[in-house]
Amino acid sequence: MGVEDLAVGQAGRILIVDRKSRIRQETAAALRGLDYHVDEVDNGDQARALLNKSSYQLLLAEVSQLAGCGFEFLLGQEAILSSTVVVLMAAASSVDDVAAVMRAGAADFIQRPYGLDELCLRLEKALKVRFYEHELTYLRHERNIIYRFENFIGESPAIKQVFALLGRVANSNASILISGETGTGKELVAGAIHYSSPRAAKSFIKVNCAALHDNLLESELFGHEKGAYTGASRQRIGRFEQADRGTLFLDEIGDMSLATQAKLLRVLQEKEFERLGGDKTIKVDARIISASNKDLAKIIREGDFREDLFYRINVINVHLPPLRERREDIPLLAESFIRKFAADLKKNTATLHPEAARFLQQHHWPGNVRELQNCIERAVLMSDGSEIVKSDLLFLKGICQEGEDEPDPLFAIPLQGLKLEEMERSLIVETLKACNWVQKDAAVMLGISKRVMNYKVKQLGLANARWLKNR
Ligand SMILES: Nc1ncnc2c1ncn2[C@@H]1O[C@H](COP(=O)(O)OP(=O)(O)OP(=O)(O)O)[C@@H](O)[C@H]1O
Ligand SMILES: [Mg+2]
Repeated sequence: MGVEDLAVGQAGRILIVDRKSRIRQETAAALRGLDYHVDEVDNGDQARALLNKSSYQLLLAEVSQLAGCGFEFLLGQEAILSSTVVVLMAAASSVDDVAAVMRAGAADFIQRPYGLDELCLRLEKALKVRFYEHELTYLRHERNIIYRFENFIGESPAIKQVFALLGRVANSNASILISGETGTGKELVAGAIHYSSPRAAKSFIKVNCAALHDNLLESELFGHEKGAYTGASRQRIGRFEQADRGTLFLDEIGDMSLATQAKLLRVLQEKEFERLGGDKTIKVDARIISASNKDLAKIIREGDFREDLFYRINVINVHLPPLRERREDIPLLAESFIRKFAADLKKNTATLHPEAARFLQQHHWPGNVRELQNCIERAVLMSDGSEIVKSDLLFLKGICQEGEDEPDPLFAIPLQGLKLEEMERSLIVETLKACNWVQKDAAVMLGISKRVMNYKVKQLGLANARWLKNR
């Protein structure tokens, strides 16, 4: 249900409690004209009976009527108050009375006599505020569910290392820089850190630094005062302020201009700033998590990123390896996405055929987990059976053949060229190191037989203490 539905649609049910029948009927008619469903009663007891029977989005009541039957009965009932907005009206009232009514839980107080236009506007506003409150609670809850470490799938050594690191740093206030190619899960990790930290009850605010440039990004981050620049017709609260006591996630930080970097550095050092066009100093306590899919060290060398800012944001570095470097996670991820999309698309697809799993493991995945997720969504949508088989995934090959998804070369050839012999030696040594010098495992990784591996080791004259020990 959208705000508009609630404000003007059939969904809005209003109960009016007023003993002055002429005014009550006029008010009810005006509200019905705005498409609300309106019930009217003239005393608190009848109101109580109706409220116990059906639900209303809004109760417009004369204070004396509710007070007559113990107006606290209503405001004391959490169940009613959480779903019903209470707006009270009375003839003349002192400021103290109004304050007491509002403190007790009423959303607004309207003094009599009122104009119908004003009344309708105030009721709509009260309904909108309540709607946004519900929406916020719902979204916070949803995000809490989306950004959970449990949702981060992976059992490869590389991912286990990331988990171990995150477990140690999530509770601290340390600034974290998450690096990794596109689609490796940087945002998911940033959210999971926030929602598992002591700041979880406060906001997780995301700013995409690549989407906005200079003035706009600065106004987004720090806010602005009315008239700060042409077009700034209202004051704006920036993302830093919104993230106070929560977490500010600076996505694609490598795209920030040098001028904005200088301002950001000052805020990070001093934990205070001014809105654009303002002179009031605002203090903030926001944890900073940044992410970049660019190599920041390289951008620093090129002079496009400040080294001092890099050290500030990179107290802890979390690197998310590309999917092709943790191929063992591919079937796990694929199976979890199959379950998710099968449920969403109401299909009975449940498993991944081993041959299909191997096929997925061979793909290069330049778009990483996001690309795998999209690929599984497409496969689940198209598949007829309860299992995803290789033929459901052949479109991946097509993508490769068209050259859109050409695998990157494994390494770049230096200008002076490369000696094949040296290359082979270094390939074998590095693979052996990665396999803890177990020749059998290195042979599997290189796709050669154990016998050929043994021959190469002898030919290259390689030796390792481990082999001697095992003799
Ligand atoms: N390990 C994982 N387990 C489950 N889902 C994942 C994992 N990693 C990423 N995803 C999912 O893949 C998608 C892309 O992840 P995310 O947006 O966090 O990536 P990113 O690194 O921020 O990408 P980009 O650089 O393009 O912004 C999201 O839907 C996310 O939920
Ligand atoms: Mg992202």
